[in-house]
Amino acid sequence: MSDLESIPGPLPRHVGIIMDGNGRWARSRGLPREEGHARGADSVRTVVRAARKIGVQALTLFAFSSQNWDRPPEEVFHLMQLLRRYLIQERSEILDNGIRLTTVGDTQRLPDYVRSPLVELMSASADNDDMVLCLALSYGGREMIAKAAAAMCRAAVAGKLDPATVDPEVFGSYLESSNLLPPMDLLIRTSGEHRISNFFLWEIAYAELHFTEKLWPEFERADLEAALRDFGSRERRFGLTSDQIARLPARPAAGDEEGTSAASSSG
Ligand code: FPP
Repeated sequence: MSDLESIPGPLPRHVGIIMDGNGRWARSRGLPREEGHARGADSVRTVVRAARKIGVQALTLFAFSSQNWDRPPEEVFHLMQLLRRYLIQERSEILDNGIRLTTVGDTQRLPDYVRSPLVELMSASADNDDMVLCLALSYGGREMIAKAAAAMCRAAVAGKLDPATVDPEVFGSYLESSNLLPPMDLLIRTSGEHRISNFFLWEIAYAELHFTEKLWPEFERADLEAALRDFGSRERRFGLTSDQIARLPARPAAGDEEGTSAASSSG
């Protein structure tokens, strides 16, 4: 089933995508923005299927940011409708392909007509282990860091955490993403913008960044493969020298939770 051999070099364990350019795609064709989002949802289907076939362990899609709530209400409503439709229409594809659906973000803010199929599909797919599909919904990287800091403060006040022991590893363990996902190895952003836009701020400390001019509705399997090839060609040093990296034992195959010490401790 896997066609891993088509991508030379190591595969990223966790790929994040900032799916940008739906509005520009629509505008350049004289179409309403909603049409761009609808075509963007088609790209989501294509990319999830391709990532699963290629053998990516985890894929996180930035589907709706904390700041997107401030878009015009009709656009927010349309995006919510698209999410609901996606969850209903892709249910069997997700379950039949061993995909576990999860989320990061403040999903309590989502309307019930999205939350209900979301929670149901997360529960139905909870035992799947061929790939994790994480939807970042009502998500903000700073918001997640603040939430983790608040949880850590509560633990300290309750006497369950000694502030003197707090280091990046301890702090990272308070982030919602920490027990859901492997470290993010590759972050892709479409539409020619070179920004992170409050996505996985903490978790991308050592991610490789891949920017493409393609607008999200035009993004296809070949574009994902190009990003994976680009990733495979990078030398990841995690602050070490090339010589040190060359002497490290080969990184364990995707699926091994440990990684090299440099890779696993840094994210
Ligand atoms: C950014 O494009 C995209 C979004 C804010 C929403 C992403 C949503 C989808 C791809 C469709 C629904 C998602 C799923 C998971 C089914 P933009 O609107 O900011 O584009 P612009 O910068 O060109 O205006």
